[in-house]
Amino acid sequence: MAAKEVMIVRPASLLIAAAAAVALPAAASPELAQKKNCLACHTVDKKIVGPAYKDIAAKYAGQKDAADRLADKIMKGGVGAWGQVPMPANPGVSAAEAKQLANWILSLK
Ligand code: HEC
Repeated sequence: MAAKEVMIVRPASLLIAAAAAVALPAAASPELAQKKNCLACHTVDKKIVGPAYKDIAAKYAGQKDAADRLADKIMKGGVGAWGQVPMPANPGVSAAEAKQLANWILSLK
């Protein structure tokens, strides 16, 4: 009896696990932005404290070193590219995470 119940439950939980694995890569960067508190000041398409990510993507479109420069700025913060409001440094963001976030932002249209 008990063994049969386990057999019935298992395929369903496998399906859920497979669905989660498929959903993860596409959602990874927005989730990282959420986790690192970027979305307190930014959204994808509206300026709040910081510029909209789509506006950032448009501004740097076609500049091949943009991802590196933005990753650096994401970690260290800075001011003057968009106005007088500074972005504080984000010390909780690693170089790899900053690069991932920069590439995601630049991919937005
Ligand atoms: C406290 C508010 C705040 C937080 C938190 C914040 N930002 Fe910003 N961000 C700003 C402001 C303000 C600017 C505009 C700075 C300027 O004019 O140079 C900016 C600019 C940027 C830019 C454009 C830089 C440039 O030189 O054009 C990127 C990319 C960016 N932020 C990404 C991020 C990411 C990724 C995070 C999370 C790790 C983050 N921001 C967290 C306020 C914030």
